[in-house]
Amino acid sequence: MRNFVIILSFIVAGIISAVMIGFDMEGIASDTYYDDEQEGLQEQIIIRFSHVAAENTPKGRTATKFAALLEDKTNGKVKVHIFPNAILYNDANEWKAVQNGSVEMIAPATAKISEHYPIWQILDLPFAFPNYRAVEAAYEGKIGKALLEGLEHTNVKGLDLWYNGFKQITTQESVIRTPDDFSRLHFRTMPGAVIQEQFNQLNASTSILPFNKTYQNLKVDFVDGQENTLSNINTKKFYEHQQYLTISNHGYLGYGVLMNRDFWNGLSSQVQESINEAMHEATAWGRRHAIEINDQHARAIRSNQSLEIYTLSAEERAQWRKALRPVYNEAEQTVGSDLMEEIETIKENYAH
Ligand code: LMR
Repeated sequence: MRNFVIILSFIVAGIISAVMIGFDMEGIASDTYYDDEQEGLQEQIIIRFSHVAAENTPKGRTATKFAALLEDKTNGKVKVHIFPNAILYNDANEWKAVQNGSVEMIAPATAKISEHYPIWQILDLPFAFPNYRAVEAAYEGKIGKALLEGLEHTNVKGLDLWYNGFKQITTQESVIRTPDDFSRLHFRTMPGAVIQEQFNQLNASTSILPFNKTYQNLKVDFVDGQENTLSNINTKKFYEHQQYLTISNHGYLGYGVLMNRDFWNGLSSQVQESINEAMHEATAWGRRHAIEINDQHARAIRSNQSLEIYTLSAEERAQWRKALRPVYNEAEQTVGSDLMEEIETIKENYAH
């Protein structure tokens, strides 16, 4: 009997507290505040944009410009979250990330795209561009159009080509002046057949390493040197483990801006149009500012005096050009004569 009373009192207490909590819950629910920031949250579109360069580089700043323009054009409906410095993905895994939708956008160097679509190697040919106007003629003319259209039936959409700058060489033990100076040195490179063939012709060996692993590999002397733009050399502090900088302008480093195709296809035509417009304006901004950004980094490198700077003479440039000519023969097998002729035309048109 005593047990029965105890059990009964537990049941009664349980029912009372359930009823009280029930009332309380109702109270909490009715006190929920309306938060107008949540308005239209379902409508919000987030584009995750991963890249490997620093923020204060032509790519980093053009990406920021693009994000601002797009947000503005869509009244905040589309937001671009930028992940620079390979904080999310580096060049070894960003390709996969954009394919499987882990991010919506990436902007790899053209050489890295050529690993997957070899026709892109045309933009990495040594001495293809005598000056910046020649680069623009290729990026915004027949070649750029062919490369972007060539991605049409793939699962990435090519949005545009972005600018960085001409590549220079850094080394640790000895300065590079002539093609012979490369002999037996070991360089960090980006992937891509043209780049491999370039170092091959110079009798240098290479290791293809992600950009964010380059500093460490220079530090431990796994590689003797590397090629890059002044903005990349300065922002990644390669000068801390390199002694010489050769201003060679032997090749151009730029980017293909790519978006996951399923994501693109799922957007309304209005949003697609805003992306195209923002991209067009950001590219124009990047073209106008990339030279100045690299110049700023050149000034920083000069003023911190940690690299001995050597600029190739006209005669040495001619030697490099001659030594690297066979790279063109190799590339033509893949790129085809049509685009190779176009590059030769650009070279002639902008030679002076
Ligand atoms: C490199 O790997 O050296 C460059 O592609 C880095 C970059 O994105 O500018």
